[in-house]
Amino acid sequence: MTSSITLRSGVELPRVGFGTYKIPAADADEAVATALEVGYRHIDCAAMYGNERDVGRGIRASRVPRTDLFVTSKLDNPYHAVADVRPAFERSLSDLGLDYLDLYLIHWPLARSTDFVATWEAMSKLPATGLVRAVGVSNFTVAHLRAAIAGTGLVPEVNQVEVTPYLRQDELRAFHRENEILTEAWSPLARGRAVADPVVVALASQLGRTPAQVVLGWHLQRGDVVLPKSTRRERMVQNLNLFGFELSPEAMALLDALDSGERSGSDPDIVEVDGGRRS
Ligand code: A2P
Repeated sequence: MTSSITLRSGVELPRVGFGTYKIPAADADEAVATALEVGYRHIDCAAMYGNERDVGRGIRASRVPRTDLFVTSKLDNPYHAVADVRPAFERSLSDLGLDYLDLYLIHWPLARSTDFVATWEAMSKLPATGLVRAVGVSNFTVAHLRAAIAGTGLVPEVNQVEVTPYLRQDELRAFHRENEILTEAWSPLARGRAVADPVVVALASQLGRTPAQVVLGWHLQRGDVVLPKSTRRERMVQNLNLFGFELSPEAMALLDALDSGERSGSDPDIVEVDGGRRS
């Protein structure tokens, strides 16, 4: 199994990224600096997380050369209007203190309250500015992807969605495969629930790995990118150290059987600009 993957456009990214969701602004700079120190080279951010300035400070403090890093951010919900897309993108760039982003995503489709197809068209114009290498979406369902592609002829390179052993998302992932869209899994540990699952704990003790490594290994063997979040150094190290073991087909099947359709975060058909829950 390789530790990086290449998008349709040729842009390459590490398959394990560091998630910054729910890291309080006061801790984000140290958490990101630690993540980079232990070897992460892919940082997943969002304006909505309210910590981009602090994440940016952590990146700068690490002194890792910019070209060795893969940094993603996301368009926040209030800025779906076509005229707002570029200013919102540039705000993230400036908050992070970076000259360019590697990937920029629409954070939520907001399909009932915004013209997300027009938003996607505006996003697609960003790589030509030279300020971002690739664009995509997040939390899009098959219906949202079909509408975005039909309306613009432009296929997102990435869809970052909730994927966990409890929410396998196989139909959506099959659509991604057919259309060469990379699946990135947010909250890959089901916000911590999966590390306490008896099936996972039993497999971990058989394999001599930690529960988190078993779950993250399951994701990687399915071909997805994972974005685990932790503020603890030893967990950051574990979550990155995933390439020296393989789950057997039987172990994969046991984990596959946990699928119940249960979400750990918000439902993309429910989140809207006002009043919707956020993730
Ligand atoms: P903490 O930040 O205290 O380490 P997800 O990435 O699915 O959203 O899960 C994040 C949650 O899982 C956080 O509560 C995090 O807690 C916890 N977590 C992350 N990595 C590990 C790990 N290796 N072992 C146990 N819990 C973990």
